[in-house]
Amino acid sequence: MSKTYKVAVVGATGAVGEVMLSILAERRFPASEVVALASSRSAGGKVSFGNRQLVVQDLATFDPAGVDIALFSAGGSVSKEYAPRFAAAGAVVIDNSSAFRYDADVPLVVVEVNPEAARDRPRGIIANPNCSTMQMVVALAPIHRKAGIERLNIATYQSVSGTGRLALEELGRQTAALLNFQPATPEVYPVQIAFNVIPHGGDFTDNGYTTEEMKLVWETRKILGDDAIAINATVVRVPVFYGHSEAVNIETRDKLSAADARKLLEAAPGVEVVDEHVPGGYPTPVTHASGTDPVYVGRIRDDISHPRGLNLWIVSDNIRKGAALNAVQIAEWLVLNP
Ligand code: A2P
Repeated sequence: MSKTYKVAVVGATGAVGEVMLSILAERRFPASEVVALASSRSAGGKVSFGNRQLVVQDLATFDPAGVDIALFSAGGSVSKEYAPRFAAAGAVVIDNSSAFRYDADVPLVVVEVNPEAARDRPRGIIANPNCSTMQMVVALAPIHRKAGIERLNIATYQSVSGTGRLALEELGRQTAALLNFQPATPEVYPVQIAFNVIPHGGDFTDNGYTTEEMKLVWETRKILGDDAIAINATVVRVPVFYGHSEAVNIETRDKLSAADARKLLEAAPGVEVVDEHVPGGYPTPVTHASGTDPVYVGRIRDDISHPRGLNLWIVSDNIRKGAALNAVQIAEWLVLNP
């Protein structure tokens, strides 16, 4: 009989955790047992795992002994406290928070880009990148290998699911309120998100950029293994439920034409090119990304302002490829590469 694994999902009641469970079931991950963990608030409740229901257990009182693989998506402070405990008990932790991403002893892995980095995990922890970085590097890696990326200028259009379940509820609630001519009180975001756009993700840092913007800088360099790439990002939250979009302007060392970039991207793992020069001939969160696995790329254009510039429009489901799917793909890679 082939080997099976005891898997723990930490944050199983959250926006990412519930999709981790459904992807594990969908892809028939070789699990001997799947344990759903969350806070004491949800302990005793149920979550779906395929057509089964799992009883949620309290992370604080759970004994991690015997867990082979733990997928964490319960926020940075939970990861900081519990991921080392699971690793000490013998589990490989795949952590979706930012708690360990910049740690030199923790590999930051996108399965289509740098899976081999997962072998070297001295702390027993592998970090899953930020959602907007994740989808972008899947499309950028083949371009970087071919033509050498020197500079990136990024504007994101990020959906509210990236902020978590309460943000999904806030967009729904505000939309309903406004359609009924009622005030839309902000609770999760600092200002109204329904029918609005907010140029702010994460926290402000000393240089005036936000943490979500600096994640794109640090994480892209770490995953592509190239600290020389110059990166400038503006992160914007938009009233979309699922699916992040990104307008990315790339300057390469060697000229790469839009036609050659299209060919490279058509052959790239995890990428689907949707690039017809007609109305609707491009990917959007609603028409393509939401609920699906690929990283969609469209609007591939030579930059008319720069001899070695290229433009891409990159769209993906931030909860699937941007978080839960990549975490499960890392787990699958570990199974195939013990
Ligand atoms: P709970 O539902 O019990 O609060 P989201 O990012 O969608 O808001 O989800 C966050 C996830 O992290 C939820 O599953 C949540 O569980 C879990 N979580 C938050 N705080 C803790 C904690 N202190 N211990 C365990 N799980 C936590």
